[in-house]
Amino acid sequence: MHVPFLDLHEQHAPLMTELVGAFREVTEASAFAGGPYVARFETEFAAFCGTRYALGVGSGTDSLWLSLLGLGVGHGDEVITTPNSFISTAEAISLCGARPVFVDIDEQTYTMDPTQLEAAITLRTQAIVPVHIFGQMADMDPILAIARRHGMPVVEDACQAHGAEYKGRKAGSLGVAGCFSFYPGKNLGAFGEAGAVTTDEPELGSKIQLLRDHG
Ligand SMILES: Cc1ncc(COP(=O)(O)O)c(C=O)c1O
Repeated sequence: MHVPFLDLHEQHAPLMTELVGAFREVTEASAFAGGPYVARFETEFAAFCGTRYALGVGSGTDSLWLSLLGLGVGHGDEVITTPNSFISTAEAISLCGARPVFVDIDEQTYTMDPTQLEAAITLRTQAIVPVHIFGQMADMDPILAIARRHGMPVVEDACQAHGAEYKGRKAGSLGVAGCFSFYPGKNLGAFGEAGAVTTDEPELGSKIQLLRDHG
């Protein structure tokens, strides 16, 4: 039996009537970028993740890049993450002009090993980006405790973790920002590229809102 690597048609077929109805509604309103449909999704996605805000952006890469920019990450800074991810986690750090610093993964969870985190922190470190991979969330308690001790923001790369939970809390609700991808093959896929940032922080939320609209 041939099992296809990815079969989006199988996923969409039972929803086709609903999808075509939504497509018609959006097309008739010509609401293709932002607008009331995105706003409604933002409200519902924030509620789903258990955060105050969700901000729609162009992709998961944009969600990471704009979160880091919004936190003031720039040239000469370092941001700690793990190498076991899609390239855009490190790429988003580089796009800010900062240097990705890699902490290896724990061999049980395949996510950032908290016991190796503190040794990677330097005077240049501006943020920590654990990656929840394949729906498996990073061990957030020790990561958040170390970050708190060093006064450092934690940005969750939740691009592969929509709906995943850590001790009863949803991915994207533990760090200062949660970054999501809605690439078509993701747990929640859009018709094309899309992403979102979740946050409880009004100031960060408005900065990201400005940045996504070109300032
Ligand atoms: C862990 C991780 N981070 C970031 C991204 C980037 O998301 P996008 O492809 O929507 O830019 C992805 C998606 O492939 C991912 O799997």
